[in-house]
Amino acid sequence: MPRFQAPRGTRDLLPVERGVLLRLEDTARALATRYGYQPIETPLFEQSAVFERGVGEVTDVVEKELFRVQAGRGDEERERWALRPEPTAGIVRAYVQHGLRTWTQPVRLSMTGPMFRYDRPQAGRYRQFWQFDVEAIGDAGPGIDAEIIELATAFLAAVGLPDVQVRLNSIGDAACRPTYVDALRAYFGAHEAELPVLERHRLQANPLRLLDSKDERMTPLIDAAPAMSAYLCSACRAHFDGLLAHLESLSITPRLVPSLVRGLDYYTRTAFELYRPGAEGQQQALGGGGRYDGLVELLGGQRTPGIGFGIGLDRVALALAEQDTVAAAEGWRPSVVVVGVDAHDTAVRLQVATELRGAGLACWPDLSGRRLSKQLEGASKAGAHFAVICGDELEAGNVQVRDLKAGTQRQVAVTDLARDLLRAQTQHRHGEEG
Ligand code: HAM
Repeated sequence: MPRFQAPRGTRDLLPVERGVLLRLEDTARALATRYGYQPIETPLFEQSAVFERGVGEVTDVVEKELFRVQAGRGDEERERWALRPEPTAGIVRAYVQHGLRTWTQPVRLSMTGPMFRYDRPQAGRYRQFWQFDVEAIGDAGPGIDAEIIELATAFLAAVGLPDVQVRLNSIGDAACRPTYVDALRAYFGAHEAELPVLERHRLQANPLRLLDSKDERMTPLIDAAPAMSAYLCSACRAHFDGLLAHLESLSITPRLVPSLVRGLDYYTRTAFELYRPGAEGQQQALGGGGRYDGLVELLGGQRTPGIGFGIGLDRVALALAEQDTVAAAEGWRPSVVVVGVDAHDTAVRLQVATELRGAGLACWPDLSGRRLSKQLEGASKAGAHFAVICGDELEAGNVQVRDLKAGTQRQVAVTDLARDLLRAQTQHRHGEEG
C-alpha cells in the first residue's frame, strides 16, 4: 500500500491545533462584529483573471504561487480557474457583481478562511493557510485607514499578542508613483549586473516588486534604494499626514518604513505590516494590508476607494505557541463520560448521554464493550471531569457520579442528573478561576 500523506505545504490540524484556530476565528468574528464589519464568504476558487488583474500579473503571488485548477468538462474546460491566494480580489469582485455600491458606504466586510499559494514551504509559509481578512470599501479615508490598523492591532492584542509593531508607508497613487517607479528603474538599472535573474526580468515589467524581493542578495540594494516619501504628491502627503494624526489620537505609534511596498499590485497610498518585536524576518509578518483605491475599477466597477488587511492565523498560532500561551495548548475535553457496570448494555449509556447533551453538557458515552474499570480509565485519559456510572441503581432511578479529578463519588437521581452536573461544572470552573 502507498503511504498517503497530506500534500507538501499543507498540514492536518489535529484537535488541539484546530481548537486554537477555532478560538482565533471566534475572536476574529466577535471583534469584526463589534466594529461593524459584516461577514462575507466568497468561493475558494475564482476565474484566474480576478487574481491576475486584481493582484497583478507581475507579482510572486500570480507568477509563481497561483494554484491553477483544472476545471471540469465541456465549456467549463475553457475557463481558467485558480484557488484564491488571498481574499481581497474575490471580495471586491463580489462588491462589483452584487452592486454593493448602493449600500451605505463604506461597506465593512470580514472573512476568515483558507487561502492557497503554491510557494516553497517553510516555517510559517504554507501552501494552504488561514487568514482573518477585513475590508472597508467606499471611504477614501484617512480616518478609516486608522480604524483598520487599530482593528488589526486590537485583534492581535485580544488573542495574546499585545506588543506588535505597525510598520507603515505610503506608496503614492497614479499621480505620483510613476515618477518614483522611473527613479527605481534608473537606480536598479545602474545595478543590473548584480540583480538575480528574476529581478532583472522585473526591472523592466514592475520595478516596485524589486523592493519586496524574497532574495536575500537584494537586501543591500533595497536598503539604499530611493524612498517613495520623497516623491509623494501633495494629495498623498496630506492623506498620509491625516492618517498619522488619526493614529496618534488612538495612541498608535507606527514605525515608518520607506521600503515597505507589499507584494501585491493593487495597493495605493497606505501600506502596512504587523510584526512581533524580535520576529521581523520576511516570513514573519503576522499580517499586512493597505489601501486599494484602483481595485474596484480594475475589476469592472466604478472608481471606489477601499482599504483592508489580512492576518495570517497560522502565524499567529505559531507565535502563541512560541510564547507558550497556556490558552494555545488546550484541546477539547468532554466534561462527562457515561459508563456502565454491565459491559454490554451500551444502549442505556447512549440514552443517558443524549439526555445530558440535550441539557447542554459536553458529553460522550463509552460505547465499547469493555469492563467498567477500563471505561473509567478511558474517561480519565480523555480528560473528562465526571463519569456517570449506570448500574443496578438505575432501576430505582439513580446513578453514581464520580468526580474523576477529586476522586469522590456520590449517588444522584437520574431526574436531577443534568442539573446536578451543570451545577458541579460551574462550581468547578469558579474554583479554577478563583
Ligand atoms: P498578504 O500580506 O499577502 O496580504 O497576506 C497577509 C498575511 O497572510 C501575511 O502577513 C501572513 O501572515 C499570511 N500569509 C501569507 N502567505 C502565507 C503563507 N504562504 N503561509 C502562511 N501565512 C501566509 C494579503 O493577502 C492581502 N489580501 C491583505 C489585504 C486585505 N490588503 C487589503 N485588504
